[in-house]
Amino acid sequence: MEFGALLLLTLLGLSFGEPGFVQRDYMNTLEWLRAKVEFINNLEDKLKIFDGWQSDVYALEARLNATVDELTRQKAEVDRLNKENQDMGMRLNATEEEIDKLKQSSAKDAPQIAFSACLSNSGEIYSGPSTDKTLVFKRIFSNTGGYDQSTGVFTAPVNGLYYFTFSTYGYNTHIAGAILMKNGVRQISTFDYTSDDSSDIGSNSAVLQLAAGDKVHMELWDNGRVYDNWNGHTTFSGFLVFPV
Ligand SMILES: *[C@@H]1O[C@H](CO)[C@@H](O)[C@H](O)[C@H]1NC(C)=O
Ligand SMILES: *[C@@H]1O[C@H](CO)[C@@H](O)[C@H](O)[C@H]1NC(C)=O
Repeated sequence: MEFGALLLLTLLGLSFGEPGFVQRDYMNTLEWLRAKVEFINNLEDKLKIFDGWQSDVYALEARLNATVDELTRQKAEVDRLNKENQDMGMRLNATEEEIDKLKQSSAKDAPQIAFSACLSNSGEIYSGPSTDKTLVFKRIFSNTGGYDQSTGVFTAPVNGLYYFTFSTYGYNTHIAGAILMKNGVRQISTFDYTSDDSSDIGSNSAVLQLAAGDKVHMELWDNGRVYDNWNGHTTFSGFLVFPV
């Protein structure tokens, strides 16, 4: 380009009649052209820089896109975890509600029935033999319902399985022991016949199925005797295991 322009100007210069004028004009134009060429070269350099910038921008955009993709993926993951968390929270709430219900229903539906007593409530007593062989346990350790301390009879408040346990203590002068009766019928007992040793103990227990209203009490053998004092040798206890 530079060479072509010089050639053109040379030809133009030769066509002018006055050499002094032509020479001056030629020099100015040459300067001008040189400046233009330099300008264009500069432009080309700048364009190269600009191209470089453009590819930098492209690379940046690619990285930005990758970051956006990653963020989108992570947001989806966070959303999924949030959803999972919420689901688990709901399941946990449901479980807690269920447990509360169970707690309430077992507390409400299962009556709390238990009693425990021993024979003596004041000093030393013998009991029996007598015509009424029912043992009335008067010293009450606990009684949340069912046991009547004036008659010695436990009346089942609800249908259920009940655990009963008792122990008897007596001297060798009489049959020592007692019988656990359900609705007047013998169930289990302790028994020790008159013997040479001075005193005897025995204990027994059973789980009985009772209907509401069934009666359970302890009774002496014929000619039997049991003994108690503040040491609580002769006892009778029972409680509801579970309703049925
Ligand atoms: C960046 O993402 C936009 C929108 O999806 C797309 O048009 C552009 O071509 C992407 N750029 C690059 C460098 O991948
Ligand atoms: C679970 O129960 C709590 C307290 O009642 C409540 O704040 C929460 O929003 C519940 N969560 C769900 C997932 O239902």
